[in-house]
Amino acid sequence: MRSVFWSLLIISIWITGCNHQAEKSNDQEVQAHPQTPSNQPISLNLGIKVYKQNCKVCHGADGTLSIGGAADLSGSRLPLDSVISIIQTGKKAMVGYKHMLSPAEIESVAQYIVTFRK
Ligand code: HEC
Repeated sequence: MRSVFWSLLIISIWITGCNHQAEKSNDQEVQAHPQTPSNQPISLNLGIKVYKQNCKVCHGADGTLSIGGAADLSGSRLPLDSVISIIQTGKKAMVGYKHMLSPAEIESVAQYIVTFRK
């Protein structure tokens, strides 16, 4: 009887532990795919995340990769509002992100890519 008690206790601790793990990874999942509320603050961290998920494939980690004729972002001299409008509407092989990213995400990524400039 005693050993049954102990195995139940161990099993329940194990189950609780697993649930905890599951909750944790769900949280991370949510953070990786945010629901982008409209009041999202503009931040460099958000810009970095958006860049890695959407732009890095063509522009590369530091903006100089130029896959598919992508502009070298480190050499760009466009003012910030033009950068934002290109991100919104796209250019040549680059699609516009107006419907994929929130205004805060677009402004955050724009502010991040100007940090590539030399
Ligand atoms: C499919 C590849 C591709 C992806 C993905 C992509 N771009 Fe581009 N990007 C391009 C191309 C092509 C151009 C146009 C180059 C030219 O004008 O000849 C461009 C141009 C730009 C320019 C204009 C630079 C200048 O000085 O003319 C900016 C800014 C820019 N991209 C930012 C971004 C951002 C931010 C993202 C992600 C949200 C992104 N791009 C995703 C291919 C891409």
